[in-house]
Amino acid sequence: MALFSLRCFTQTSRWFRFSRVPALKFHKSSMMGATVEQFEEAKNKMSTLKNDPGNEVKLKIYALFKQATHGPCDSPKPGMLDFVNKVKWDTWKSLGTITQEEARQQYCNLIGSLLAKEGGSPAQEVSAQPAASSNTYTTLLVSTQDNITTIQLNRPAKKNAITTEMYEEIIDALQQAAEDTSVVLTVFTGAGDFYCSGNDLSNFTKIPEGGVEQMAKAGGELLRRYVKAYIDFPKPLVAVVNGPAVGISVTILGMFDLVYAAECATFHTPFSQLGQSPEGCSSYTYPRIMGASKACEMLLFNKKLTAVQACELGLVTEVFPDSSFQSEVWRRLRSYAKLPPNSLALSKQLIRSVDKDRLHAVNDAEVERLMERWMSDECFNAVMSFFQAKAKL
Ligand code: COA
Repeated sequence: MALFSLRCFTQTSRWFRFSRVPALKFHKSSMMGATVEQFEEAKNKMSTLKNDPGNEVKLKIYALFKQATHGPCDSPKPGMLDFVNKVKWDTWKSLGTITQEEARQQYCNLIGSLLAKEGGSPAQEVSAQPAASSNTYTTLLVSTQDNITTIQLNRPAKKNAITTEMYEEIIDALQQAAEDTSVVLTVFTGAGDFYCSGNDLSNFTKIPEGGVEQMAKAGGELLRRYVKAYIDFPKPLVAVVNGPAVGISVTILGMFDLVYAAECATFHTPFSQLGQSPEGCSSYTYPRIMGASKACEMLLFNKKLTAVQACELGLVTEVFPDSSFQSEVWRRLRSYAKLPPNSLALSKQLIRSVDKDRLHAVNDAEVERLMERWMSDECFNAVMSFFQAKAKL
């Protein structure tokens, strides 16, 4: 298969064809960035790679290189028909505002992992900061500092829409945070201006050989495991909602222990608009949190709430001015993370365990209903309309 050469990642003009390749993941993000020297070393080592890593990985290398050397993507978006430059632009843009230092680090980690795959050791081959563990992510930035694991959804160009890969990575990251004894709090947040735009609707357009039924079955199983990871999560979970939130990123909040929102955040669950039905156990948690009629207004009639309205209904713990949101919230979380960890975890478990069996049953029922919905004409037509509307822009 003709692909662009490994040496051309510092250039923007080379073309390549797309082939679906298994995603190669980044090492878990380190809080510290790589130095320019380490980055240069990684760049040189890249040319020694023997195997072609596939287009998806090469796109990541390209984007990280651009971010590391230039900073966030600020060039004009290529036209719809300029496919290759558009996909390169998208990948670069998706890195959002991560710093050049962090981009150098991710670049070093990625090259290191490719070299390791070919038989070398990343630590020897590229003297990047060694990854804190062997865990790797492509759609998330995950870091642990001050006893807080932060899981940052990191597809800002797509408003952090959740792909199947991202669902898997979040399940993984939650598992890691649950097992890591140094972790007291686990925090979700989004990169860029959105918290999350919910399920990536293109998940519905990738129809496998077994047809729509197989897609619905696989999607249902993934959703069941995803929601289960939250139901069973044993430590305090915090959402730092930095901007608008849609769909499953909103419904799942019913299982968070603290939800802090910036004033600019909104909360929207447009399920009936999409021919779908609620998930994330919201059909149970929402009526309990806000009462049945307000829950129906959101889950049936697509009412979008402001942060203040969501706080009045009890879905959000507290709203902060946009200007002081990050500093105030993180100051608070760092102080909470110093509380005795066992006391926090055991207290959370006491509060949540009374509902656990019921939540699993609700999850099963919601997934069953959704699998049927995903095969319906109502859902198919709604998803097609979304992409047709985008194509017309
Ligand atoms: N699934 C797939 N792609 C999505 C997405 C989603 N849930 N949310 C955003 N995107 C993509 C857009 O298609 C667009 O891609 P493009 O740049 O290749 O055209 C990109 O992200 C930016 O979104 P855009 O629509 O241009 O930004 P916006 O600020 O005008 O609107 C949203 C943002 C989230 C309001 C709008 O994209 C939207 O309604 N998305 C669908 C949300 C949804 O229904 N989620 C499922 C709930 S169950």
